[in-house]
Amino acid sequence: MDDFLWWRDGVIYQIYPRSFNDTNGNGLGDLAGITARLGYLVELGVDALWLSPFYPTPDADFGYDISNHVDVDPRFGTLDDFDKLVEESHKKGIRIILDLVLNHVSDQHAWFQESRVDDTNPKHDWFLWQDQIPNNWESVFGGKAWTYDKKRGQYYYHMFVKEQPDVNWRKAEVRKAQMDVVRFWLERGADGFRLDVFNVYFKDDQLRNNPKKFGRRAFERQHHIYDGDQPEMESVLEEMRAMLDEYPERYAVGETFFATREKIKRYNRAGRLHAAFDFEYLWSKYKPEKFLKAIENWESLAEEANIFPNYVLSNHDTPRPATRYGKGEDDGRIKIVMAMLLTMRGTPFLYYGEEIGMRDISLKRSEIMDPPGIKYWPFNKGRDGCRSPMQWDDSMNAGFSKTKPWLPVHPNHKKRNVKNQQKDENSVFNFTRKLIALRKEYKTLRQGDIIPFTEMPKDMMAYLRKSDDEEILVLLNFSKKKKKITLPKMSWEVLFSETRNDISGNTIMLSTHEVLLLKKK
Ligand code: GLC
Repeated sequence: MDDFLWWRDGVIYQIYPRSFNDTNGNGLGDLAGITARLGYLVELGVDALWLSPFYPTPDADFGYDISNHVDVDPRFGTLDDFDKLVEESHKKGIRIILDLVLNHVSDQHAWFQESRVDDTNPKHDWFLWQDQIPNNWESVFGGKAWTYDKKRGQYYYHMFVKEQPDVNWRKAEVRKAQMDVVRFWLERGADGFRLDVFNVYFKDDQLRNNPKKFGRRAFERQHHIYDGDQPEMESVLEEMRAMLDEYPERYAVGETFFATREKIKRYNRAGRLHAAFDFEYLWSKYKPEKFLKAIENWESLAEEANIFPNYVLSNHDTPRPATRYGKGEDDGRIKIVMAMLLTMRGTPFLYYGEEIGMRDISLKRSEIMDPPGIKYWPFNKGRDGCRSPMQWDDSMNAGFSKTKPWLPVHPNHKKRNVKNQQKDENSVFNFTRKLIALRKEYKTLRQGDIIPFTEMPKDMMAYLRKSDDEEILVLLNFSKKKKKITLPKMSWEVLFSETRNDISGNTIMLSTHEVLLLKKK
């Protein structure tokens, strides 16, 4: 573990706090709930937690509309609870990554409340105000991106819902106030940040129209040239990075909105962000060749950008992998994608519940809470499905809360829950836990090269993880059919298998959805 760098070599676990563990009995998870489950996270073996927003919020976008960036929403706890969480996590060697949402604030935020009063107040230009709608910009969640504010008698810009006005990053005072937010959390012990849609902080200074293109929804019918990715962003990243570097081993990963190769290279070079998300892998079809393509693209891009890749199977914005790839309650395919994630050359990100194969809940139209789901149902059912309460045990509300949770628990919690899976040697939980432990033990799995085998039978994936003194072969049978494989002519020993202790000869039969890791003797 000599050169183990937590954010590169560790496993990062995303928690959507309101759905993890409720200790104050209000049906919403809270910070104390996370602290109470640190033992579980140590058992699983994760190295860092990325916490989705827990700041005060009126919930127009469930926490991503923040009314005070430097406090904790009382429903989720207090700043003391945050301090306790940091302290306890650090004692256990777990780092804390916060979600920084600095593109927009809630319309209930004091800055916006002041700004909307008139066009002379000290914060009058902290947001993007215009007398008339100046251009064709659209909101991501539907409708025009400009909304008329009666109080002020002008239009303001919002990339997301109208309750999320975008701040004016060109204003020096705004920039300073935002940097103070970063400093506030660094001083309180945060180890890193996930930057929410950071690359749209700045918009074109002349507010020009975006060129049109073909697409389904109005937002997709534009090239987003002028409502984001302005050159000014680069100096902000440099300023943030310099601040991070004042503290030891701090980290920032960017959610690049509409990521392209060019954007990732631009924002993730030396002196800017440590890491970026790439969503090609997440959105891959359940086919080895599609995953391999995504891996190849990410590998070459990461090399060009000089960053370490990371891999994600889902987050709070996407359906869970078990829902996208799984068939009923069968976990064969889940183990395949989990094994792939944990044996990649790239930092694995897990989304809470993935380690027990949680499925999305399905909701009736009347139960939907997420703004895009309300707007676009049934074409887009929103993101509530993947945000259901963590399934701890088979009790009422799955051990998540003593009261009715904010979103329904999945009916499969009677069987699919942490408690059951901890007891079952073959559960997704134990499978995940063992692979995380192997990743920790073998540097080759963390940092070794990845060499995919291209001549493979249909639905088979194989790659070698290789370092100077070690070779680990990963074999994944994506299908239900048995696969006959001829191994490279060397002697191999079993490093991980749910069914075998050893192999004989160089031709082996892989069973349904088998995962096999072999180490060169
Ligand atoms: C990011 C978040 C998403 C949120 C949006 C607006 O994409 O991941 O949940 O709705 O930003 O803040």
